[in-house]
Amino acid sequence: MGRKKQKHHQSPLQDPASVANDVDGAAELDSVTAHSSNLDQVMCDYSVDARKEEADDADEVEDGPSCDLDEKTSADYYFDSYSHFGIHEVSLLTSGQDLGQRGFYSHPQSPLLLIVESNDMVLLEMLKDVVRTKTYQNVIYQNKFLFKDKVVLDVGAGTGILSLFCAKAGASHVYAVECSHMADMAKEIVETNGFSNVITVLKGKIEEIDLPVAKVDIIISEWMGYFLLFENMLNTVLYARDKWLNDNGIVLPDKASLYLTAIEDGEYKEDKIEFWNNVYGFDMSCIKRQAMMEPLVDTVDQNQIVTQCQLLKTMDISKMAPGDASFTAPFKLVAERDDFIHALVAYFDVSFTKCHKLTGFSTGPRSRSTHWKQTVLYLEDVLTVCEGETLVGSLTVVPNKRNPRDVDIMLKYSLNGKRCTASRVQSYKMR
Ligand SMILES: C[S@@+](CC[C@H](N)C(=O)[O-])C[C@H]1O[C@@H](n2cnc3c(N)ncnc32)[C@H](O)[C@@H]1O
Repeated sequence: MGRKKQKHHQSPLQDPASVANDVDGAAELDSVTAHSSNLDQVMCDYSVDARKEEADDADEVEDGPSCDLDEKTSADYYFDSYSHFGIHEVSLLTSGQDLGQRGFYSHPQSPLLLIVESNDMVLLEMLKDVVRTKTYQNVIYQNKFLFKDKVVLDVGAGTGILSLFCAKAGASHVYAVECSHMADMAKEIVETNGFSNVITVLKGKIEEIDLPVAKVDIIISEWMGYFLLFENMLNTVLYARDKWLNDNGIVLPDKASLYLTAIEDGEYKEDKIEFWNNVYGFDMSCIKRQAMMEPLVDTVDQNQIVTQCQLLKTMDISKMAPGDASFTAPFKLVAERDDFIHALVAYFDVSFTKCHKLTGFSTGPRSRSTHWKQTVLYLEDVLTVCEGETLVGSLTVVPNKRNPRDVDIMLKYSLNGKRCTASRVQSYKMR
């Protein structure tokens, strides 16, 4: 079964993940989505600046760029975007066709593609992710009791949209901290909308700015990356929490969970991975090795799901230590039907447990799609599973040593089934 490029067919927020999503808000989401043409190709454009800085930092500690593809990080790709296999696949497959769509599709993290996109477009698309933005809006507007007369810190404010929501909900003051040039836009947006007396935009890194107050009551942030942890903005939120949050203060969102399931994906694996075995008659299988190592950010059809879903890790943002984002989690995936397994799929949900009604959203394949899509980890083996059999293993997740914004993943799995036995360790790098 092949995958569709874009899907908006799923009913809102009905993932097996145990987040109780906001039903009233979901109805509103429906109407907004109807007017929203393309929610898929989104990335935080301003992170280009941050990437460049990471690249500069990396250059300071390294003698020079590594020749080993396996050792590359996203910082290397900032200047060497074409060494990412996805870019070449785009050129080979699409001359003149739909490059933007396939480009992001093949390699959504590529800084090159971020540069190609106009900043305004990317920003627009991010705000048009209604699952994301509407959930924050609902959390804030439907829980004004949390915000009334409170001091709020917006970590990574972007356009200032979350700060504006908070100001409108009655916050006494909002500090909107944004490290990129978007801070200048945010200032103008705040002024234009008449909130200059409530919102102070501070341009700079959270780790470097001086906040005009000693403590804040609320920290709000949209820090989640692909695979939840890619781009590692979580540490920035934890830094702000430890430095400025009142003892009885709250972090929004305060829970994030990572899940795993297994899918049938034969046609697509053929297209994305086996393709490199024979490219117009030439063996490019050295690129296949690279392709296998790079998790694919893509929308998975729920009909591809072969096994149950497994919760890997829940993080309590109000309490966790930065080191808790590195972990090894065991899994047991029970097959729900006879099928083949070509890949494991990771996704996350976030929740706001301090709301009057528990609110959140899921990025799972059974929920309405978001710009985070899902993260596909292709397996070396094609597993033949029978209903009731269990694929067991563990997933280890750690920030990359050279560039902590990247994520290294180690997968161990084994299957001892009627028709198939397999046992393997695979490594992936999100960059
Ligand atoms: C995912 S965007 C969210 C933007 C906005 N809050 C929204 O919801 O539309 C994250 C933002 O955080 C900013 N950012 C990342 N790391 C930061 C840091 N250390 N200090 C300040 N801003 C940061 C990025 O530039 C980016 O604008």
